Amino acid sequence: MRPPEPVTATLAGLPSPVCAYVYQRQALRDRVAAVRAALPAATLLYAVKANGHPEVVRTLAQSCDGLEVASGGELQLAVAAGARRIVFGGPGKTDAELTAAIAAGAQINVESGQELLRLDRLARAAGVVVPACVRVNRAGAALPGSHAMTGTPTPFGVDESQLGDVLAQPHDHVAVLGFHLHAVSNNLDGAAHARFLADALSWSRAAARRHRIHLRIVNAGGGLGVDYLSDATVDLAAVGAALDVPPGVELIVEPGRLLAADAGWYAAEVLDLKRTHGRWFAVLRGGTHHFRLPAAWGYSHPFTVLPRDHWPYDWPRPEVRDTTVDVVGELCTPRDVLARDRHVARLRIGDVLVFGRTGAYAWDISHHDFLRHPPPSFIIL
Ligand SMILES: Cc1ncc(COP(=O)(O)O)c(C=O)c1O
Repeated sequence: MRPPEPVTATLAGLPSPVCAYVYQRQALRDRVAAVRAALPAATLLYAVKANGHPEVVRTLAQSCDGLEVASGGELQLAVAAGARRIVFGGPGKTDAELTAAIAAGAQINVESGQELLRLDRLARAAGVVVPACVRVNRAGAALPGSHAMTGTPTPFGVDESQLGDVLAQPHDHVAVLGFHLHAVSNNLDGAAHARFLADALSWSRAAARRHRIHLRIVNAGGGLGVDYLSDATVDLAAVGAALDVPPGVELIVEPGRLLAADAGWYAAEVLDLKRTHGRWFAVLRGGTHHFRLPAAWGYSHPFTVLPRDHWPYDWPRPEVRDTTVDVVGELCTPRDVLARDRHVARLRIGDVLVFGRTGAYAWDISHHDFLRHPPPSFIIL
């Protein structure tokens, strides 16, 4: 995926050594428009965990129907961004976080029987009835993708077989409006996602009848994918094809990756080129402490070489031509690898590598403080 001209122009103007994330607001808005066009019947929230940069959150708070948050910190970001609607999920909410969510008027995705009891107690103390969905770990409903969170043992949600017991607990101050069924990450199969949405709706109607709930909300979570090894994105037309939301029911989707990934570019300058035991290494001013996803998921992230003419030294500039390199970071660990065995036509010390699709789960999931290198600069276009 090649960076667009506004991104390359921005990077060309940065001082050496370049190390930056560039986020494009218009790309965020364009992706929201594409999701809305494909799923006009759904309520669209943005899952802040994908990228909590305040400008990204603000842009998506304006263009989506609301924000999904998973901590007190994200809740604060969502409030500051002026989100029209906030949904608070996550398996380990503290009383302080629940209290803040109640005060912010958030809807809660309840993750366990204990959490329902605590939420009820806190809502009673606040003198309100809190809108909520119960997150369910269903017996089936697996989807292709990674990080399966349902249909398998996980700490997320209430086991389907325990739903009756959980709902039988006293909860006068929690209005259970439906179910939250987030299932998976990075699903690239649009038709399978369409089946998952249809199944989520029909399962929820049956479960609501069984447990005597007036079903008003089905939250199908996120999980719509982008392929890091190609330009492919989940086929949104296939996801939305034949989507039939029953009257009186609100279908919520809360993607993170799909909305933010393509709006971000991570750029890092080559500080050194070296050959050890027959292998070329390009050492970057950057690495997995800024962009952990390839190391976490075990793949080589594609990049584009942005040639730069800057060479301030009075000796010849080292370069490699028509060879393969491992692209590594500035950390003192052999695991600081962003890509292995990538072919480059020409690469010089001082050139900049640009990694696309880094607007989601890139900076936000990385271990920034390891070795205390300075952070990248963040540039918002
Ligand atoms: C409850 C919930 N909703 C939404 C998301 C966003 O998922 P994605 O970024 O895959 O769309 C996640 C991600 O883990 C999640 O846990």
